[in-house]
Amino acid sequence: MNKPLRGRVAVVTGASSGLGAHFAGVLSAAGASVALAARRTDRLATQVGAIEAAGGRAFAVPLDVADAAAIGPALDQVEAQLGPISILVNNAGVGGEGMALEIAIEDFDRTMDVNVRGVFFAAREAARRMIASGEAAADRARIVNIASIAAHTVLPGLSAYCASKAAVAMLTKALGREWARHQIAVNALCPGYIETEINADWFAGEGGQKQIKGFPRRRLLEPSDLDAALLMLAGPAARGITGTLITVDDGQSL
Ligand SMILES: NC(=O)c1ccc[n+]([C@@H]2O[C@H](COP(=O)([O-])OP(=O)(O)OC[C@H]3O[C@@H](n4cnc5c(N)ncnc54)[C@H](OP(=O)(O)O)[C@@H]3O)[C@@H](O)[C@H]2O)c1
Repeated sequence: MNKPLRGRVAVVTGASSGLGAHFAGVLSAAGASVALAARRTDRLATQVGAIEAAGGRAFAVPLDVADAAAIGPALDQVEAQLGPISILVNNAGVGGEGMALEIAIEDFDRTMDVNVRGVFFAAREAARRMIASGEAAADRARIVNIASIAAHTVLPGLSAYCASKAAVAMLTKALGREWARHQIAVNALCPGYIETEINADWFAGEGGQKQIKGFPRRRLLEPSDLDAALLMLAGPAARGITGTLITVDDGQSL
């Protein structure tokens, strides 16, 4: 099998469930050694076990991305265990549900802390290490931020989430520009709706089912629908792609 990421070390935040767990498996299948970061260490252990059982190399690293000071030491652990980091998938995120008239201040702040501050400081800590190790100069440094169609489309009842993902989109461009000279490619994926723990309750209910019927293809996406774009942005093909947002949404935002 073609292994375009052989020899690369990838960090995936929010890899204990949903898309992050899926991305970790995809990067491993493409040849990368993968560090899985999140708070629920029991779930991380399960995902690491699955990757190793499939013949991959994986390492679990406990991390709360809202704790900016914890990110550097977590990445140091990854480098000590797996080697220099070449790929960061900034995937950890929370839903931030709540109508604007009612959302609690703490819930708004938590959405920004995880979805925006977490993305920025993880990107910065990774970029510093990519530059210091030479991975950037060797044109192997790739940062893939997981934004959402919420970065460019209003999702009703999710104003905090939409604002956080729009911030991720602009950070992607700003960091792509700032780190272009270091050869670090910074790009974002903007997925449409995929059923995971973040939205399972919503899609189990009447409102969610009605929303699906309103999508152009009357269905949700599957995590594997993101694989091609993820692998492009994480690998050699992204040499000339930076500051770009790629929407993969089955037409949901059209
Ligand atoms: N599902 C969709 O339809 C969809 C669409 C577009 C974009 N996205 C984005 O995709 C990303 C993954 O979401 P998902 O759908 O896979 O939902 P999920 O299953 O709920 O996964 C969220 C992940 O983020 C982690 N996380 C949350 N807070 C964290 C923190 N403070 N520090 C570290 N990790 C944290 C969680 O791990 P722990 O709780 O173990 O820390 C979990 O692994 C999010 O950024 C989301 O906004 C999802």
